Formats: sequence, structure tokens, C-alpha cells
Amino acid sequence: MHSPDRIPLLVSVPADRYHRAVKNTDQPTPFLAFRRFNDPELQHLCRLRARIGTRASDFFSGDGLPDRLVRALAARRALPIKEVFESFEFFERVRRRMRAPHLADLCCGHGLTGMLFAIFSRQVEHVTLVDRRRPSSHSLIFEACVEVAPWIKDRVHYLEKPISEAVSELPQGTSVIAVHACGKRTDACMEIGIQLQGKLAVMPCCYFGMGQQIPQAVVEGIGRELATDVHRSYALERAGYKVHWSAIPAAITPKRRILIGLPGKKAPAILTS
Ligand SMILES: C[S@@+](CC[C@H](N)C(=O)[O-])C[C@H]1O[C@@H](n2cnc3c(N)ncnc32)[C@H](O)[C@@H]1O
Repeated sequence: MHSPDRIPLLVSVPADRYHRAVKNTDQPTPFLAFRRFNDPELQHLCRLRARIGTRASDFFSGDGLPDRLVRALAARRALPIKEVFESFEFFERVRRRMRAPHLADLCCGHGLTGMLFAIFSRQVEHVTLVDRRRPSSHSLIFEACVEVAPWIKDRVHYLEKPISEAVSELPQGTSVIAVHACGKRTDACMEIGIQLQGKLAVMPCCYFGMGQQIPQAVVEGIGRELATDVHRSYALERAGYKVHWSAIPAAITPKRRILIGLPGKKAPAILTS
């Protein structure tokens, strides 16, 4: 019998060392946008679905632009706390790789993530937000963003239409992001990124109906979510992209893996081939 905290390898090693070496699971992903939330005492706050409110000033009291923006969002109770962290931490991980004059946030919902590029990324001159339905929270969030960063007022546009119809309005080379676009729509967003030959970054969420093209043994062995993202990564590399993986902190959401694709020199191929 093996003790439960030891992994049954040829040479038995403690479970924590096994996971560190093989699965790299014991290193928590740090907060980069708001480093004060690396304090474990605060991390339960990051996944709250309640709307951000005036108590936020206890935690975002600085003079810098990020804290001022969070306070402006909080004054309007503009969106759930969790979504503030999702947007900022996603942005912080991909901002340097998404540099391009035009960026599109597909299936953007409220659109905060895309607007962060307009505010903080000098190289991004225009941001197009695309969603088939513009939620009422968008105008509150836009108002908060313009209050602290007035230069974005004419640089952000919202297209209220399906992504399939928006693509013809996006210039070649547009960087594409898609945060929690849901299931196969993540793949559709990646297709659009490839079509535009731009940089792309997606953070998938649900994986319903995914994985039909993946061998059942792989799905059973490593799980549908990981298998699907591995499959997506191979497909992106076949399409001429160099793929990187990243993640936002687990304290915010379990749906946290980010696939980043940077176009290389190879001619594009169809993603689903
Ligand atoms: C789970 S929400 C994610 C919203 C946002 N990216 C976020 O992180 O908060 C998925 C969004 O995709 C939008 N959506 C679904 N199908 C779409 C389509 N075909 N074209 C454009 N938007 C779509 C929905 O309206 C919804 O706002």
C-alpha cells in the first residue's frame, strides 16, 4: 500500500514534489494587476458576484489610474467584482503581446476588457467591442472609463451585431481577444483572429459540445477542458501561429487558462483541419 501523500512511481517521491515537477500545480498564479490581492486574506473578495460598490475605496485607494478607474466603476456600481478582476488580470497578462493599432474584443459583453487596452496600451489606437447584445452596464463602464481616461472617448466603438457580421468591418492585422466567449464561440473568435492575421488571446470558459475531434482516450485521460485547449493549440500552430499559455489567478475563477497566439511566417490554414 502507498501512503496517500506519496505518488506510486518507481522511486517513491513526496506528492508535493511530484506535483511541482510534473503538474506544476502548487505554485499559485499571482495577481499582477492588483498585487495587494496576493494576500490570501483578501482573495475571497476577488470572486464575489456582487456589484462593486463604494467599499472598494478601502482596497483601491491609490492615486494611480487603475485604482481611480476601479473607484469610478464602483461609484456607478457598474459590474460584479469578479469581472473587474477577470478583466484587469487578463489584460495584464496579454497586453504586451497584443500590441497593434486596432484591437477587437469579441463577445465582449460589457466591454471593460477591451477598454483597458484603449486606456493603458499606447500602441492600441482603436478598440472595437463586438457583441450581439449590448448590455446596459456597458454605458456605465464606458462613462467611468472616460471619466478617468478622456482620451479614449473617440477611440472605442461598440458594434452590436454577431461576430460573423462584424468581421468585415475589422482591418487586417487587428488583434483579437475573447474572454469567456463560451464553447465553440471561442473557436469562432480564434478563426476570426486567423482570418485577420492578427495576434489573438482567448480565455475559454465552458466546453459543452467540445472535443468531438479529440480521441476519447485523451479526453478521458486528461479531461475535456485540457484536451480541448491542447487541440486548439495544435490547430493554431498548424495555422502558422506560435502559441503561449498563461492564466489568471485561481482565486478569481477556475475558467482561467489563456491561449495566446502570435502569427508567424507560415501561410494560414483552416483552424479546424
Ligand atoms: C459569457 S459572456 C462573456 C462576456 C465578456 N467577454 C465577459 O468576459 O464578461 C458571452 C457573450 O457572448 C455574446 N455572444 C454570444 N454569441 C454571440 C455572437 N454570435 N456574436 C457576438 N456575440 C455573441 C453574448 O451576448 C455574451 O455577451
